[in-house]
Amino acid sequence: MYNSKIIGLGKYLPDNVVTNDDLSKMMDTNDEWITERTGIKERRWVKPGSGDTTATMGVKAAKQAIERAGIDKDDIDFIVFATLSPDMYFPGPGVQVQHALGIKTVGALDVRNQCSGFIYALSVADNFIKTGMYKNILVIGSELHSHGLDKTTRGRGVTVIFGDGAGAAVLTREEDTTKGVLSTHLHSQGEHAEELVLVAPGMGKRWVNDILADKDPNDESYFPHMNGQFVFKNAVVRFSEVIMEGLMQNKLGKEDISMLIPHQANLRIAQFIQKKFALSNDQVYNNIMRYGNTTAASIPIALTEAWEEGKIKEGDNVVLAAFGSGFTWGSAIIKW
Ligand code: COA
Repeated sequence: MYNSKIIGLGKYLPDNVVTNDDLSKMMDTNDEWITERTGIKERRWVKPGSGDTTATMGVKAAKQAIERAGIDKDDIDFIVFATLSPDMYFPGPGVQVQHALGIKTVGALDVRNQCSGFIYALSVADNFIKTGMYKNILVIGSELHSHGLDKTTRGRGVTVIFGDGAGAAVLTREEDTTKGVLSTHLHSQGEHAEELVLVAPGMGKRWVNDILADKDPNDESYFPHMNGQFVFKNAVVRFSEVIMEGLMQNKLGKEDISMLIPHQANLRIAQFIQKKFALSNDQVYNNIMRYGNTTAASIPIALTEAWEEGKIKEGDNVVLAAFGSGFTWGSAIIKW
């Protein structure tokens, strides 16, 4: 058995900055409400026609990660792409990355686990490397939410939270099993699937034929729906549980955490976890103020920025944790 370790990180954020004041011109909302409830001040939204898509943003982040890893694209053995906002209903963006980067015909897997998507993708990659099946795996999280959000007052409870962007990591085989990804922990609770959901088009409830037949301008089924308070209450519990699970598995205590990178769901959730684990401001990395919630992209973007800013050093215990639609949640404990 081997371990896997991250040897390259990259990110891509579209240029177009949308502030809370910009949103207040589209819908009945304001900077004070958004800042107080979520911590978000601005987010990036892809400008229609700019050419950025979930796949192309993922490719840009991946190129940077591969370059920083110091490997050749032909050394990549497998691709895992996490997103809830693929360019096409099918196929998923993994194959678009394989083509765009000109990587040989390696496997490309798409992960559909929303805000936990990157942790799930990382776990898959880690386990393929652990067993020796692959040596170098490219893991991407990318989202283009903005084109699919309801930008009227009707959608304000969801729309103000989400942003666009991409992050990527290259994982490689590590022979020293005390280093790299020490463990990952994944969970789900499908009874709450519809508390944070985008129903249509979906075979179960509203497929394309239903939408076309109804031609209902008030149909909200193809906009995301979120029961915000319920999501919040579950998130704080599950974040804490899954971080503890990871620490205990590795016989670590909360005092051993060097850096926590929580999925950027809401600054208040991150602050709650920070307090619960008695961490200082320097031990928790947040960038939701600038990017909003970028779902599967949020952890790799934050991890990349923390690393670029020199906040992660060799030997650090880095904890990643996420919670989101499904509900799904997970954590990863990494010895950097
Ligand atoms: N601007 C202004 N008012 C808004 C608004 C907005 N963008 N969105 C909702 N409101 C209004 C509501 O209509 C409601 O008005 P009412 O009292 O007149 O009915 C009021 O603000 C309170 O709404 P509520 O949904 O109860 O607010 P909240 O305090 O729960 O905050 C969230 C909403 C979404 C910020 C909060 O629930 C949250 O962060 N939940 C977790 C979300 C999350 O993390 N999602 C991602 C998981 S991965």
